[in-house]
Amino acid sequence: MKVPTVKLNNDVEMPALGFGVFQTPPDETITAVEVALETGYRHIDTAAAYGNEREVGEGLRRSGVARNEVFVETKVWISDYGYDETLHAFDKSAGKLGLEQLDLFILHQALPGEFGKTLEAYRALEQLLADGKVRAIGVSNFMESHLTQLLEVASVVPAVNQIEVHPYFRQPGVIAADAAAGVVTQAWSPIGGITFYRDGSHGSTLQDPVIGAIALAHGKSAAQVMLRWHVQEGRQVIPKSVTPSRIAENFDIFDFELSGEEIAAIDALDTGVRGGAEPEAITLEAFGREIPEA
Ligand SMILES: NC(=O)c1ccc[n+]([C@@H]2O[C@H](COP(=O)([O-])OP(=O)(O)OC[C@H]3O[C@@H](n4cnc5c(N)ncnc54)[C@H](OP(=O)(O)O)[C@@H]3O)[C@@H](O)[C@H]2O)c1
Repeated sequence: MKVPTVKLNNDVEMPALGFGVFQTPPDETITAVEVALETGYRHIDTAAAYGNEREVGEGLRRSGVARNEVFVETKVWISDYGYDETLHAFDKSAGKLGLEQLDLFILHQALPGEFGKTLEAYRALEQLLADGKVRAIGVSNFMESHLTQLLEVASVVPAVNQIEVHPYFRQPGVIAADAAAGVVTQAWSPIGGITFYRDGSHGSTLQDPVIGAIALAHGKSAAQVMLRWHVQEGRQVIPKSVTPSRIAENFDIFDFELSGEEIAAIDALDTGVRGGAEPEAITLEAFGREIPEA
């Protein structure tokens, strides 16, 4: 089964469904990536801050899948923001992944209190794009105000904005701002992982009765229904799992269709409560940490 693609604003094609490796321990990452590629995934989303880029690269090589068939995305951590620092962050990530060119390189967070540094980091991404070292550039966890400030000075509109989106936290304002600027929204924690692996206050999306009833009606799982909901609403998704059966389950979402009513019912589950860190509260003091050399 070949995954449909979404076209980025520079005409680069990205699979509509990718594979996440946040919190996947390095010693489980090689196998997880190999299983995902064997299953048919052709997009891996990692980050310098996840500490497993080296193992993602190793999984890619061991899989035997040709390099140009896999879309590899990684993120610069805030400690490496600044023009020269971010150029060097590319060398660190590409070196660990064992790749000469990355498909998508994004800023992991805005640094709202030092936005100038964020802009310098983005300028480095623009340079890497111009130099052909990356095929597309983007951002993550950018709220409307961050996007507005970036678009005022950027010469390249980000291809993606990777943000928390699941049925309990939809961020319609950010999604609308992305769409207005021609930015693809990538949903992180697409099945609501952040609502259950962190023991969140609003409980697990996987146990939600509305999602459960829709899943039953289609003979699908709650996770498959949530992933299908994103894809039908035009968001790219990157579910994470280290469990082979779930890796396969999350891939099997292209043989059914949710109705408009079902999509609206899932939309209505939004609690407005964020599971992840508040983007306005990201500071180097609280979240900075050294990213090792390649
Ligand atoms: N940009 C950012 O700031 C940011 C933040 C968070 C995440 N992300 C990216 O987004 C990816 C996905 O987000 P996420 O890992 O937070 O959450 P997620 O993909 O929504 O959920 C992952 C969790 O769900 C479990 N799971 C996966 N498939 C399942 C299924 N079919 N049925 C039941 N449980 C299932 C996984 O367990 P097992 O692994 O044990 O199977 C894991 O605990 C990350 O890996 C990362 O690439 C980005």
